[in-house]
Amino acid sequence: MREVGIIGAGLTRFKEHWDSSLRDLFVEAALKAIDDAETPEIDSMYVGCMSSGLFVGQEHIGPLLADYLGLKNVPTVRVESACASGALALRLGFMEIASGMSDIVLVSGVEKMTDCDDPTSALAAAADIENEAFFGATFPALYALIARAHMDRYGTTREQLAAVSVKNHKNGAKNPDAQFQREVSLETVLNSFMVADPLTLLQCSPITDGAAAIILVPLDMVKKMKDRVVKITGSGVASDTIALHSRKDITSLEAVRLAGERAYKMAGRKPEDIDVCEVHDCFSIAELIVVEELGFVEKGNSGRFIEEGNTEIGGRIPVNTSGGLKAKGHPVGASGIAQVIEIYKQLIGNAEERQVKNARIGMAQNMGGTGASSVVHIMEVAE
Ligand code: COA
Repeated sequence: MREVGIIGAGLTRFKEHWDSSLRDLFVEAALKAIDDAETPEIDSMYVGCMSSGLFVGQEHIGPLLADYLGLKNVPTVRVESACASGALALRLGFMEIASGMSDIVLVSGVEKMTDCDDPTSALAAAADIENEAFFGATFPALYALIARAHMDRYGTTREQLAAVSVKNHKNGAKNPDAQFQREVSLETVLNSFMVADPLTLLQCSPITDGAAAIILVPLDMVKKMKDRVVKITGSGVASDTIALHSRKDITSLEAVRLAGERAYKMAGRKPEDIDVCEVHDCFSIAELIVVEELGFVEKGNSGRFIEEGNTEIGGRIPVNTSGGLKAKGHPVGASGIAQVIEIYKQLIGNAEERQVKNARIGMAQNMGGTGASSVVHIMEVAE
């Protein structure tokens, strides 16, 4: 297997984009990545997108986006795994370079959500349509059930859940690409309107438009072109039951644990080795459980762990320095690539006010639905 490096990255601002279409957003992010990589050649292209059909009525976006980017005749694949579409696209691009099939691969993610009249129903298509969505369950409602079970079993408090949003908004305030660049207090989070008890508005990721893109090449090629070289050392994927009621324990996210274990094993790393991590905080409870499943804290103790500041920039393991999905925004298909871009920036020392000192090993965790799919990547500064 060849080693794989990241040579360039590009991102649109995450927000409500009323003047740009799906294709405009993709082209903006892809051109920024191509400029950053200083390579006009692309051998093949992957795009992660959850539901362009339901959100904007457009399917067949692989060739559409390649066409609008000006790439003629390249192989192009659209990848779908709900909110984990972006990271799964990265996994496929990584495999294509590692196998020697291609040398320069554009991996991207895009979603245009705000043109849709009913994004909640479009998103619910990633749950079990017959057994969950049909009965009125939405993602805020499903994650609220998970949160209540975690509170009941482990004594996790409303304040501990809200602390996740306070920290992520604090980080988002330092990120010029984030949708919400403002700090919020614990009281504001707790007193914002109730979406699905115990999850208030400020504990939900928002509806967002945006795109993100990176360029992957064999590691030797990056070494010739860049001063600070970042390689992907671990890639893990796992799945779980689609419906929450089919799980033995809804306070666990087994696919996250397994994807994490597979990525750690491939990279030869342990949780203690990770300097900075982006996780899938689609709702505050998700971040709490994910840090447990990735091995940063024992099961059930994440509430206290976060409340004590361990996941702040400067803490034991900084989590979601970008602002996370909560403050940076969550254009679902793009989020997995945007997470990787944040880690890439941290590792090349380009994260500005959000920089984690001496960050050399980073992790990005992305998941679909209530954790029916999860993808974890480990990235490292190459010597
Ligand atoms: N965080 C912070 N502010 C938010 C927000 C969020 N998640 N969602 C909306 N807002 C703000 C808006 O900017 C707007 O502010 P303004 O009045 O100053 O312009 C205000 O709150 C009302 O926004 P609106 O879009 O009318 O809210 P809504 O009630 O339609 O939607 C949610 C709120 C939480 C229901 C929606 O954001 C949502 O469904 N989030 C979850 C998305 C999801 O499930 N993703 C997949 C995860 S698996």
